[in-house]
Amino acid sequence: MNIFAENLFGEVPKVSSGNLVVEGELDTRHGPILYLEDVSVSFDGFKALNHMSLYIDAGELRCMIGPNGAGKTTLMDVITGKTRPDTGTVFFGQTIDLLQIDEPAIAQAGICRKFQKPSVFDALTVFENLELALKADKRTWQTLFYRLNGEQRDRIDQIIETIGLTACNHQRAGILSHGQKQWLEIGMLLMQEPKVMLVDEPIAGMTHQEIERTAELLLSLQGQRSIVVVEHDMEFVRSIASKVTVLHEGSVLTEGTMDEVQNDPRVIQVYLGG
Ligand SMILES: Nc1ncnc2c1ncn2[C@@H]1O[C@H](COP(=O)(O)OP(=O)(O)OP(=O)(O)O)[C@@H](O)[C@H]1O
Ligand SMILES: [Mg+2]
Repeated sequence: MNIFAENLFGEVPKVSSGNLVVEGELDTRHGPILYLEDVSVSFDGFKALNHMSLYIDAGELRCMIGPNGAGKTTLMDVITGKTRPDTGTVFFGQTIDLLQIDEPAIAQAGICRKFQKPSVFDALTVFENLELALKADKRTWQTLFYRLNGEQRDRIDQIIETIGLTACNHQRAGILSHGQKQWLEIGMLLMQEPKVMLVDEPIAGMTHQEIERTAELLLSLQGQRSIVVVEHDMEFVRSIASKVTVLHEGSVLTEGTMDEVQNDPRVIQVYLGG
């Protein structure tokens, strides 16, 4: 058979649209940066997530609210690969199937998570904590054996400024306030240049002033990356949210602006009923 005929009638080419997507590379050109469809998770028969679907756009700051046990933390567990759903689809961009890769690979792909309890190193300074976060990043593993270069120092300084800790640069993390430790941990996550940051209850235990600064920080971080914030404090959510998703019994009850969701009779019912 002639070679041209074989090409014509043989295997269908993998790329036919003209948009070549490299395997494993984030592609958000035709839709959200993160989506879950029809995801269910059960624990001993109890459905913590129940046919949940959710779409997060590149660069957006999304707030998730919902009563205790609604499934907010479980949702983050699913996105980061800690918990595997029984059914459903979880994609990072249009090409990375998060159910096919493990927890470290998901983090490496650009999805990071801030837990409630800060895990900074008390004996190290603010700068050193960030330096460590940089070295922990596999893409720059060789820096383990070399001194920081100027570019890396600049990057650390820039992050310290972003998180508002310039004045504490050389202070040990152990003497920082609770709020400052939380910001430092956000800074450590930023060192890895995540595309999506998941933040679960960031303001618990903070003073009023720290809460305000945290709101400013999260607002300043959107755009460059997507941020999903779970928080119970409605005043705080109102201060940062453009779009709020309300979870209830493992599903999305409604989505909209803070005013829309707060005036939704179903949301009022869920909160009063809870
Ligand atoms: N590992 C687990 N084993 C058994 N049940 C679990 C597990 N993780 C979560 N659950 C249950 O799943 C439901 C959803 O929990 P989840 O922690 O996701 O809720 P949440 O919305 O984060 O609540 P909160 O606002 O209290 O943090 C709860 O009823 C919880 O008890
Ligand atoms: Mg939770």
